[in-house]
Amino acid sequence: MGVFKISDPGEVEAFDPARFTEEKVAEIRRFVGDGKAAIATSGGVDSTVCAALAHRALGERLACFFLDTGFMREGEVEEVKGILTSLGLPLRVLSVSDRFMAALKGKSDAEAKRIAFRETFYTVLGEAARAEGCDVLIQGTIAPDWIETAGGIKTQHNVLEQLGVDTKTAFGFRLLEPLLDLYKDQVRRLAVHLGVRLDASQRQPFPGPGLMVRCIGEVTEEKMEVLRRATTVVEGELSRLDPPPKQYFAAVAEDDRREADSRMARAAVGPNGRAWYLGARATGVKGDERAYGRMVVVEPGEQTEPADLLGIVEKVIHEDWGVVRVLLRVDGREGKAGGYAVIVRAVETRDFMTVKPTPVPREMLRRIASRTMEDPRVGLVCYDLTSKPPATVEFE
Ligand code: XMP
Repeated sequence: MGVFKISDPGEVEAFDPARFTEEKVAEIRRFVGDGKAAIATSGGVDSTVCAALAHRALGERLACFFLDTGFMREGEVEEVKGILTSLGLPLRVLSVSDRFMAALKGKSDAEAKRIAFRETFYTVLGEAARAEGCDVLIQGTIAPDWIETAGGIKTQHNVLEQLGVDTKTAFGFRLLEPLLDLYKDQVRRLAVHLGVRLDASQRQPFPGPGLMVRCIGEVTEEKMEVLRRATTVVEGELSRLDPPPKQYFAAVAEDDRREADSRMARAAVGPNGRAWYLGARATGVKGDERAYGRMVVVEPGEQTEPADLLGIVEKVIHEDWGVVRVLLRVDGREGKAGGYAVIVRAVETRDFMTVKPTPVPREMLRRIASRTMEDPRVGLVCYDLTSKPPATVEFE
């Protein structure tokens, strides 16, 4: 295991994309030899930059795959095809959502889902790569991916060797990860250097397992439909903030709320306010350990801006050890639990290792809630007030 590196501004400044490219092109050619390599791209910043780098090194000897897992956002498959084709990458789309749905059936635990996703992902990819005569897989894992996996916080879908997985035996390919020491800011600078279209390099990060990690608990077709629609609403509204949050998205869970007995949550919402627990669990970090805990929904008696409530979050989580997130109810509707809860998340950060929630104006949250609730299956809309730590950015 390598030494943990912490990104500091000086290190990002000192990064030289031209020199990095030269060194990595040589390394990729050495590693692949006379053979062929495969890369799986998601259209996200890291894998697109990595594909551009690998293509520069290998040209025709690179096979580029895009797995349509069924966990992409509305219109995303076409958008990603456009980004990758504009780079001249020889793209093959594999439509494999049924393989993923089958692998996830009956699984609601976040780690079990991530592991099932990873197994399916590399099995499908290994089959496709072998069919093209590739024995090397290149992938765009970056530093925060393996640092957090090594720290036991969560299984990133693209971290294998750092966990002791022998990829040659398990999936039939040798693995090369040219971006392993880089942080997001450096990857963005590399993107510009390699001519990766700015909308790709500026796109907010999207996790490898896609909407799966935002479909909290068991994945079903219906829940995914609700999530996809809510994602379009939330991304559309929050992108209008100037500047937009560093990352923003929607998540969905069953709306099975029940009154919370957390003393601090009750104190925080005041005598006229309410507090509930949701049944689903979400990921967080407590101390340096991964925590998998409850979410408290608060609805203060007085109308409050999210920014004014941040102080109570720490207190609630500190006092109620089972809680990893505090969510502010923003829909302002009466009504019983039932159907789905949509959770809006927007964060500010430099390196995604620590984040703060964006102080999104209440008015915008209200509009998001009313548009989201046009879907009659949604009965509750909340805004996540939790920093990382103690929460993570994603919910699983
Ligand atoms: P977390 O949830 O760990 O997220 O605080 C930090 C950043 O990483 C992204 N993320 C992922 N990216 N594969 C990825 O490629 C993953 O499995 C994954 N999980 C989280 C997340 O969107 C955020 O930007």
